[in-house]
Amino acid sequence: MQIPAKRLDSLGASVFSEMDNLRRELEKAGDHLINLSIGSPDRAPSLEIRKILSQGVLEDSQYGYTLTRGTANFRRVCAEWYLERFGVSLDPETEVLPLMGSQDGLAHIFLAYIDPGDLALIPDPGYPIYTAGLMLAGGEKVAVPLLEENGFLPDLRTIDPDIARKAKLMFLNYPNNPTAAVAPLSFFEDVVEFANEYDLIICHDAAYSELAFDEYRPVSFLQARGAKEVGVEFHSVSKTYNLAGARLGFVVGNSAVISNLSQLKSNIDYGIFRPVLSAGAYALSSAQDSIEENKNAYQRRRDLLIEGCASAGWTMPTPQGSMFIWAPVPTKQDSVSFAIALAREAGVVVVPGIAFGQHGEGYVRIAMVQEESVLQEAVQRIQRFLSKY
Ligand SMILES: Cc1ncc(COP(=O)(O)O)c(C=O)c1O
Repeated sequence: MQIPAKRLDSLGASVFSEMDNLRRELEKAGDHLINLSIGSPDRAPSLEIRKILSQGVLEDSQYGYTLTRGTANFRRVCAEWYLERFGVSLDPETEVLPLMGSQDGLAHIFLAYIDPGDLALIPDPGYPIYTAGLMLAGGEKVAVPLLEENGFLPDLRTIDPDIARKAKLMFLNYPNNPTAAVAPLSFFEDVVEFANEYDLIICHDAAYSELAFDEYRPVSFLQARGAKEVGVEFHSVSKTYNLAGARLGFVVGNSAVISNLSQLKSNIDYGIFRPVLSAGAYALSSAQDSIEENKNAYQRRRDLLIEGCASAGWTMPTPQGSMFIWAPVPTKQDSVSFAIALAREAGVVVVPGIAFGQHGEGYVRIAMVQEESVLQEAVQRIQRFLSKY
């Protein structure tokens, strides 16, 4: 048997697989675990969205390839949604591209821009696909620390100008996974200036743009003046409309970047299933009530967790967006030891911060992906667990 390519070795998801193995071991031993580790929505799309999806499935005409650029209708709806939501106008023909989930674009953009040895600026801690995509393209990672004292925004002034000049891409993500931080428009304006100064392409991952709380509405990177000249923004319908498994997202912004990504993807896939595009177009263009309902559900979960853990002496910042809480480790353990102890002794699974990069050490990520009754139980378990420390 031939051995696999060396590039697989560069995909070191060791902490994630360690936690996953532990979860399986405990489940096999009969433990009832509460899994707060994965960022996958546990709720279903609205009934109307599911009806559109199922109507399409029953029609003979829906089964051909849609090809990389998808349907004109989906691209048009994305552009209309953008205008309505952010006041940014987009050309649906050249500035919008559908994706098989934003992950599709986030992974493949590196293959479109990075040759072996090229540099990209990647947030640390950060969502793992940025590093994985870069590694698959043979690029080199420049980790940009996201520190609590800077509100988990990169401090652009501390990035070495020589390195910034050599780098081709810079990745950003707000509302952020894993830190749950949000970014003001003024930050994106600084980013545009920085990108112009160092000739960087900005890739902003806005997967959680519609999951924000307490009246806060995240801004788009493309609202910053000149942003479209330097970058693109990735969107997901997975979290917004609970369509994660249907695999749908889109990227918007700079037409040259969109065109290069589209060219690359046209060699890899034949497009998204037409009923999925129709369901996504319906979701984006109809009344956005289900988003409100979704947000309210996550906000109640957030408050329950934050208040419950606080009563056990574990205080953590209240997130304004995303489906995560980024909690400082409340014991003297490192993040992996704490997460292992919490899983083994309390049956609650969270992700150690180090899994997202070295600056994630000292934190764990708690995903608010269970119903309130289950979270209530998780809180009781955490309270019992922490009383022993
Ligand atoms: C920050 C971030 N970006 C992108 C994605 C990918 O989402 P999808 O491919 O379902 O659109 C996720 C999924 O968890 C995420 O957390």
